Amino acid sequence: MTIHEKNPLYREFYQTQYGRMILGNSLDVLCNYEASSIDLIMTSPPFGLVRQKEYGNVHADGYCDWFRPFAEQFYRILRDTGSLVIDIGGAWNRGVPTRHLYHFKLLIMLCEEYGFHLAEEFYWWNPSKLPTPAEWVTVRRIRVKDAVNMVWWLSKTPWPKASNSRVLQPYSASMLELLEKGYKAKKRPSGHDISEKFSTNNGAAIPPNLIAIPNTESNSFYIRYCQEHGLPVHPARYPAELPEYFIRMLTDKGDLVVDPFGGSCVTGEVCERLERQWQCIELSEEYLKGALGRFKQGVSDKPVSNPQDEKNYYRIPRPGILWNGHEEEHLPLDGGQSRRKR
Ligand SMILES: C[S@@+](CC[C@H](N)C(=O)[O-])C[C@H]1O[C@@H](n2cnc3c(N)ncnc32)[C@H](O)[C@@H]1O
Repeated sequence: MTIHEKNPLYREFYQTQYGRMILGNSLDVLCNYEASSIDLIMTSPPFGLVRQKEYGNVHADGYCDWFRPFAEQFYRILRDTGSLVIDIGGAWNRGVPTRHLYHFKLLIMLCEEYGFHLAEEFYWWNPSKLPTPAEWVTVRRIRVKDAVNMVWWLSKTPWPKASNSRVLQPYSASMLELLEKGYKAKKRPSGHDISEKFSTNNGAAIPPNLIAIPNTESNSFYIRYCQEHGLPVHPARYPAELPEYFIRMLTDKGDLVVDPFGGSCVTGEVCERLERQWQCIELSEEYLKGALGRFKQGVSDKPVSNPQDEKNYYRIPRPGILWNGHEEEHLPLDGGQSRRKR
């Protein structure tokens, strides 16, 4: 047990075979964990926003200061072999079509001030993201859809335990063709020497650091449970495949995973299925009441996505398919500052 049981600031809300939900401020909870006791912190903190959202986001301008006490605890409680994985979305500056830099500043702060190493940066592409903010994207047409979250994979040492063989993907059709026809070792235009080993069929491909998962859950047991019990469905859930990817790659069965911004406890649900110990800490009792729905039915032992299901593959068309050689209009010289007349 890594937390002190009797503390009036927080309480255990629910316990399962492998984990517990804790109701309270994670800062109050984390400071009671033993140092170097956690294998993975897998989390999606409230994003820094320029407008407030319903679950109390932090203003992007003060984000790093808000995060500092968490960063200190995260570093203290992680094992040397452990990892900190943060899913974080970007934000637009208010009133102008430019992006806030808060999530990049967070990354730099964590590495330069707290001593974390950037093991690798990932990008979670959500193909179902809506084209917002409408003013820049669909009205003035001067920006494109922001459909990617950053996922910062950080560690205390340059050598956190990890294996990409836990997250292999099926080969693409073109790679399968290449494997079948064979590949002649040669130098690429980039200068890279590609050996014959490249054409060995290893059964599956090493994935890139771009993870494609649509966030479209609409009829899950969790949602129905919330609706039936008059509880709010958490508005900022991540899809289970996202934490599952990192939990598989970075932990072994029995390891301890903590989500300090637990929300609807997706991290806990995945850990329960994968037999990792877990603790999800959440400020809002309503969200935890809804999260109970994830455990009341018994956790499924089936993987979230079916590898045989072609529909789960999202391909990004190469830019250029619709380019036909001529541009119709001159670009607005004011950068779209004045609204176009339709
Ligand atoms: C982006 S949501 C996490 C959603 C979660 N990953 C899921 O899929 O359901 C962030 C959560 O952090 C919670 N939160 C914010 N500050 C907190 C704190 N100091 N301690 C515990 N939870 C906090 C919010 O109530 C919110 O539910």
